[in-house]
Amino acid sequence: MGAEVVVEGLTKSFGKQAIWRDVTLTLPPGEVSALLGPSGTGKSVFLKSMIGLLKPERGRCMINGVDIVTCSERQLYETRKLFGVLFQDGALFGSMNLYDNVAFPLREHTRKSESEVRRIVLEKLDLTGLNGAERKLPGEISGGMRKRAGLARALVLDPEIILVDEPDSGLDPVRTTYISQLFLDVNSQIDATFLIVTHNINLARTVPDNIGMLFRKELVMFGPREVLLTSEEPVVKQFLNGRMDGPIGMSEEKDSATMAAEQAMFEAGHHAGGVEDVRGVPPQMQPTPGMPERQGARRRTDRVMSILHSLPRAAQDSIIESMSPEEQQHYGVHAGGRPAPSQRPAPSPRPRSGNGERIEGRLDDESVARLPGSEPSGSERGRS
Ligand SMILES: Nc1ncnc2c1ncn2[C@@H]1O[C@H](COP(=O)(O)OP(=O)(O)OP(=O)(O)O)[C@@H](O)[C@H]1O
Ligand SMILES: [Mg+2]
Repeated sequence: MGAEVVVEGLTKSFGKQAIWRDVTLTLPPGEVSALLGPSGTGKSVFLKSMIGLLKPERGRCMINGVDIVTCSERQLYETRKLFGVLFQDGALFGSMNLYDNVAFPLREHTRKSESEVRRIVLEKLDLTGLNGAERKLPGEISGGMRKRAGLARALVLDPEIILVDEPDSGLDPVRTTYISQLFLDVNSQIDATFLIVTHNINLARTVPDNIGMLFRKELVMFGPREVLLTSEEPVVKQFLNGRMDGPIGMSEEKDSATMAAEQAMFEAGHHAGGVEDVRGVPPQMQPTPGMPERQGARRRTDRVMSILHSLPRAAQDSIIESMSPEEQQHYGVHAGGRPAPSQRPAPSPRPRSGNGERIEGRLDDESVARLPGSEPSGSERGRS
């Protein structure tokens, strides 16, 4: 199973420029999470901080008991082996063919024989649909193939945590969906913990189990996908709809005068952009038929049901509606008529097959939802 990543009070600045402060979230093991946010809000900086390439000034990032922020070089080197990272452009070595690119981490970090390396490299190239391209140089293939090669390389060390920075950049919408499908298939096969940074609304709406958003130097929210996708927060709605009317401007944040002037313009009929009013929670993409069931998704249902009462109403309704009648019966809920929290039985774990130990994610209430309209479960600190 993938590792859990617990981020607490993480704060990063460059000189006088604060990037984000007090970021607290938990990536539940084996679940797929996404981080959204306008350009320049520090999403890439966040990923780099998680692998110790950048050092936040305050806070912790705990992985298997090691704090990435303060650990020794030796611990960092060891912990980094748990990660597979897909950088924005694939970050392939331009002078090496795809085979050598994908083999690189194995040759660098393990003592495997060349025949063992070959077996693994060909397996990952096959998984990512790059059969036959192993002798090509990165400059000789398309952007989509480079992404897939980057993913193949990210997978060779059997990572427990996979970080992906803007998988859709440079890809057409269809290829973006194929690579999304690949993430879910990989997740179902190796149960790794995923964090995907993206601007792509289709991907954000249909792929992750959990979604977070950075804005105004803070993590505005992080929690089950249904929370963000049903949110009435202006910044979230604007982002999901890709419109100009709202708090996000060309340079990250609008001041109130700009916002008022623009609002008047839109009310007078100027098109605010965006194609349609995107709302609601579309069905989540599933692994390709024939793939194993996603254990992360299974654990997520238990986890989300255990915190259901702390989520905003619309998110609760959407979670229940997305469940099968059997699941609704199992958890003692049904669409349109939830029992009151006091009457609701505590969810019991579903039976596990094989060695499938039941492990609940530990998203504390505070990192789940800090939204107007949510019903805080007691521990909310009055931050805006
Ligand atoms: N090594 C660095 N030194 C100084 N400033 C940096 C460094 N890396 C990033 N920054 C600054 O941090 C801010 C956040 O950058 P980052 O690349 O994380 O944004 P982002 O959210 O990933 O944006 P985008 O969506 O455009 O990729 C930017 O203002 C950037 O200039
Ligand atoms: Mg970035």
